[in-house]
Amino acid sequence: MSEACPVCGGTGWKIIERDGLSAAERCACFFRTMTGATWAKAGVPENYRRSSFENFRLPDKSQNPIAHEAMARAYLAVMGFAREFPAVDKPGLLLIGDPGTGKTHLAVATLHAVIERGHHGVFWGYQHLLDSIRAGYDAASGASDREAYEVALEAEVLLLDDLGAHRVTEWVEDTVTSLITYRCNHRKPIIATTNLPDADMGAEAAGKAATTLTDRIGMRARSRLFEMCHIVKMPRVGDYRIQTAAR
Ligand SMILES: Nc1ncnc2c1ncn2[C@@H]1O[C@H](COP(=O)(O)OP(=O)(O)OP(=O)(O)O)[C@@H](O)[C@H]1O
Ligand SMILES: [Mg+2]
Ligand SMILES: [Zn+2]
Repeated sequence: MSEACPVCGGTGWKIIERDGLSAAERCACFFRTMTGATWAKAGVPENYRRSSFENFRLPDKSQNPIAHEAMARAYLAVMGFAREFPAVDKPGLLLIGDPGTGKTHLAVATLHAVIERGHHGVFWGYQHLLDSIRAGYDAASGASDREAYEVALEAEVLLLDDLGAHRVTEWVEDTVTSLITYRCNHRKPIIATTNLPDADMGAEAAGKAATTLTDRIGMRARSRLFEMCHIVKMPRVGDYRIQTAAR
């Protein structure tokens, strides 16, 4: 509610006439302010605060029609997820692909779209979340650290960025498994990104004997994640960061 709102004068309510009766109704500015506050609290890093569907660029069609086509398919799948949120079949979204292919950009665009529709969501970098949870076990740390795990469990929508980055320990695997299991059992949406190949993605990924998602988060978390998420695989279009730096 801005004081300057010409419709409601800043009250957040407007009077409407219906069938000769007046009634109070929420002014559009009320929802704008509310979703603005949710967005401000979502913890999206500065670099990604302007990432949207509108400013996501597809590879040039005349130069590379195959990459254009493949990226358009991924883009439309993600946009469809955002538009239909919350999906009845699978509540989550998992973006898999090489570094710099726009996974975090699209994940944030999705979070933004979902918040604009009145939902609540938070952004957590995977590593940062694990560090905060671990710090929460440390008696000397503040209450806000102890809350990290709670927030990640209970947030209506959790954006978990760069899932599986970093080393594995039993503690990490247990923590991620319980977080994903809890959210999966309660059908709480996760939007996740990862640049780790999945063993199921065929010879291309497995052939390189690279570290897979399963190696990093464990079989149980991986299995639940796939069960609850729409999987979108980003095409191999090269690193956008490097391409723009070269321009
Ligand atoms: N198709 C695109 N159109 C516009 N900006 C893009 C596009 N792809 C990536 N970017 C921008 O390039 C930068 C890198 O993209 P992003 O961080 O989303 O990649 P990523 O796939 O998450 O990489 P990583 O695996 O390293 O996390 C960001 O600033 C992002 O906004
Ligand atoms: Mg990323
Ligand atoms: Zn108003």
